[in-house]
Amino acid sequence: MITSVKEILTKAKEGGYAVGAFNTVNLETTRAIVEAAQEMRSPVIIQVTEKTMEYSGGRLIYNLVKNDAEFYAPEIPVGIHLDHGHSLEIIQRAVAIGFTSVMYDGSRKSFADNMEITKKVVEFCHEKGVDVQGELGNVPYLGEAQMGDIDWDKYMTDPTRAKTFVEETGIDALAVAIGNAHGFLKERAQPDFERMALINKNCALPFVLHGASDWENGRVVDAIKNGVSCFNVDTAIRIAFVNNLINSVGSQGELGFDLRKLLGGARDAVKETVKAKIKIFGSVGKACAEEKVCDIA
Ligand code: G3H
Ligand code: 13P
Ligand code: ZN
Repeated sequence: MITSVKEILTKAKEGGYAVGAFNTVNLETTRAIVEAAQEMRSPVIIQVTEKTMEYSGGRLIYNLVKNDAEFYAPEIPVGIHLDHGHSLEIIQRAVAIGFTSVMYDGSRKSFADNMEITKKVVEFCHEKGVDVQGELGNVPYLGEAQMGDIDWDKYMTDPTRAKTFVEETGIDALAVAIGNAHGFLKERAQPDFERMALINKNCALPFVLHGASDWENGRVVDAIKNGVSCFNVDTAIRIAFVNNLINSVGSQGELGFDLRKLLGGARDAVKETVKAKIKIFGSVGKACAEEKVCDIA
């Protein structure tokens, strides 16, 4: 059941749990995420980046997510989201396709420019009923910052600026930087939860934590206590997919040249990974109406 991302995140924040926002690139990862959500009875967000819109076709990947969600998880809230949109143009394109939630990522811009463009994005999107996630601070990738020599203070979300940013732009969710990092870049030894608590005190909206592929129980619980309602996961999905594929290709004799068998194994590996993340984030069973018995596989 396609559901607004704002509704999914608001319920999570009120309920004291978080949901996963999982990146898809193709048919197999989409189906894996949808089936994992269905089996866990968990709300979920499926997100697509600009590069994936180029790779798969924006309209095609959007319709794939929508169709899979409606067909394979008709009672489970599934949000569809544009992840890391870097320009107003890409956001307008996503909205024209049907996306009802987008991220404008101005985190590499100056505070003033980030605020000005985010505000324009919000004006454009809210008029059309589309939710907007903004980012303040910077969640780095490997390549932007090298392992080991990171001056984390340069990347962190400033709690006072966050208040101004949220109030001035009117965003619906805020991506925060508290020592988290994308992909294979090593994170700060300890996330700055004191900073997170201040951000939460200053801003009354759901927070999104990017770079959460390697976040485990303890950290997740502390983040949720401080207002984080959504964890972004991409790298863990890619690792599960590729590792499985490498093994399957190695045993080519058994699987032959049937791409459906080769890719089907990778899809199942992604599904198990997504299910494990859903358990860590605490959203198992949260798609069930309270009065209904929740039958979880
Ligand atoms: O942060 C988002 C993704 O991990 C990066 O994905 O290579 O599709 O831009 P991308
Ligand atoms: P990971 O690289 O930790 O999976 O983070 C993904 C992400 O933040 C997508 O926006
Ligand atoms: Zn991200």
